[in-house]
Amino acid sequence: MAHHDDLIAEDIIAYLDAQENKSFLRFITCGSVDDGKSTLIGRLLYDSKLIYEDQLASIEKDSKKSGTQGDEIDLALLVDGLAAEREQGITIDVAYRFFSTDKRKFIVADTPGHEQYTRNMATGASTADVAILLIDCRYGVQVQTRRHAYIASLLGIKHVVCAINKMDIVDFDQKIYNDIEYDFREFSKDLGFADITCIPMSALNGDNVTRASENADWYRGPHLLEFLEDLDVDSADLDRPFRLPVQWVNRPNLDFRGFSGTVASGVINVGDEIMVVPSGKRSKVKSIVTYDGELEKAREDMAITLTLTDEIDISRGDMICKTDSPCEQADQFQAHVLWMTEKELFPGRQYIIKTANKSVPASITNIKHRVDVNDLSETAVKTLGLNEIGVCTIQTGAPVAFDAYQDNRNTGNFIIIDRATNETVGVGMLDYALRRAKNVHWQDLDVSKTVRAAQKNQKPVMLWFTGLSGSGKSTIANLVEKRLLDLGRHTYTLDGDNVRHGLNNDLGFTKADRIENIRRIAETGKLMLDAGLITLTSFISPYAQERRMARELQGEGEFIEIFVDTPLEVAEARDVKGLYAKARAGKIKNFTGIDSEYQEPETAEIQINTVDMTADEAAEQIVAYLSERGYLESED
Ligand code: ADX
Repeated sequence: MAHHDDLIAEDIIAYLDAQENKSFLRFITCGSVDDGKSTLIGRLLYDSKLIYEDQLASIEKDSKKSGTQGDEIDLALLVDGLAAEREQGITIDVAYRFFSTDKRKFIVADTPGHEQYTRNMATGASTADVAILLIDCRYGVQVQTRRHAYIASLLGIKHVVCAINKMDIVDFDQKIYNDIEYDFREFSKDLGFADITCIPMSALNGDNVTRASENADWYRGPHLLEFLEDLDVDSADLDRPFRLPVQWVNRPNLDFRGFSGTVASGVINVGDEIMVVPSGKRSKVKSIVTYDGELEKAREDMAITLTLTDEIDISRGDMICKTDSPCEQADQFQAHVLWMTEKELFPGRQYIIKTANKSVPASITNIKHRVDVNDLSETAVKTLGLNEIGVCTIQTGAPVAFDAYQDNRNTGNFIIIDRATNETVGVGMLDYALRRAKNVHWQDLDVSKTVRAAQKNQKPVMLWFTGLSGSGKSTIANLVEKRLLDLGRHTYTLDGDNVRHGLNNDLGFTKADRIENIRRIAETGKLMLDAGLITLTSFISPYAQERRMARELQGEGEFIEIFVDTPLEVAEARDVKGLYAKARAGKIKNFTGIDSEYQEPETAEIQINTVDMTADEAAEQIVAYLSERGYLESED
């Protein structure tokens, strides 16, 4: 780190002081593989002399061997070399590189690799002050540029640099530059950026990166580093309301009980009155404890532990606010969602949503529209695919303490996790709580499920039949229902073919539609259980996740999964409705077992092997199961 060395040798204390007092700027660079992103970052690191001598020597050697720049140093190798090193280890989505100049310290979120994914970009952008969008001047504003600009705006970045790169290739042609600048400004005029700075650049030769270019003599603006050094960012607006998402309750002994987390916004003082969301409980700050001792006052970004003057119940996932400015809480929201995986988003499917400090089960109840990043137009869609952005409504399984993302990036964002794979599949920005959630309250009725069940003298339970088309689900369910009727039970059967003629006549057989089909049946079945009925459902219900959702929706012991296990060959040979033949002939698409999957249950309470057993025997087995486990005993 050559140029710092002399300073350090001269006066180490002065050096450290200067470092300490310099302000920080966080930025992210976005661009496609060949836009020159690595070269640009390499150039910034190289010119700020923040490269170790041995790294430099090795790049000089590599540049001669495998670089693309003849005898010159290939700066991209510096960044890519580090990236390759990194990729050998555990996958880290974003590498944060640090460098400093005499004026300022910088952290650049570098997101090489996996260019097709916006995931890395979104992660890096969520803490950045500035986004540098690289544009290859030969190609102008691309879909990717628009997408990155839109995501940057969605993630609350206020300052954008449009780095119009590779200008050396077009001899710094001002017209080419002007056209691109015009396009970009036109596109982003409604994105809410505080400022957009366009810079003609050659990252390769260093033009307008860390020194003004003589080649673009018509350009009057700052070069990139100058812009980054001088930009005024007040990242911590301390007037914002105080928020402490409680990450853990610190209770080392009986005398100490503290609530720990990183202050998401605002300021707190000893003696301030606080309120806990969602419980609404109040108290006062007794002390503010940190790693370096007790403080009178703490502010945004500090990791603290609060102790209070009263013993009140606070748990991980709660938000501590000041009484005069509590955050909101709700379980239904509108949010912008960026989908980040090839497996599409399915409304109605249960995911996990993770906010600043809380994980809750949640589902996207509706996609209002998808935003086309090319022209910001809105399209009605049923699902979101990789890199797509939609405005969605969301229902969470428990109330979430939050702020609108616009007001607070830390308490207004969330990630979406797939329950089956634990993979992060999306990110979201909360827009607002839905009013209907605030105004619709659960109506407690005097006549309850218990009363209704007692009147019928039975225990409500859901018998969930699953299996291929033609496996015999409906036949067996029908026989079971007749037997239950003979035993004086009150029942109802929801059957796939029948329900699809009425309640679900808007649904087909795509994955999204089947998920919605099962969601509605699980909910309808729940109402029937609430009515006190023994409810039989007969649906292929091919996905394990939705069967689990149906199970979790019912009370303990109220869901019995019955796998009607008929192998495909057998069901196809029977082909009662002639549908398999049609599917094989290509006349029916997405047919389960043929070109649409069936996930066999692993946790079914009852498995029926229809090859060795008649339908009557199967019904017998099910009724016996119910009887043995006390489901058929009277409730009195
Ligand atoms: S599910 O997958 O959404 O649970 P559901 O049980 O409601 O399916 O409906 C399945 C019935 O619809 C089948 O028994 C069959 O009669 C009919 N059907 C029509 N098209 C298809 C298809 N593509 N795949 C499966 N079943 C189909």
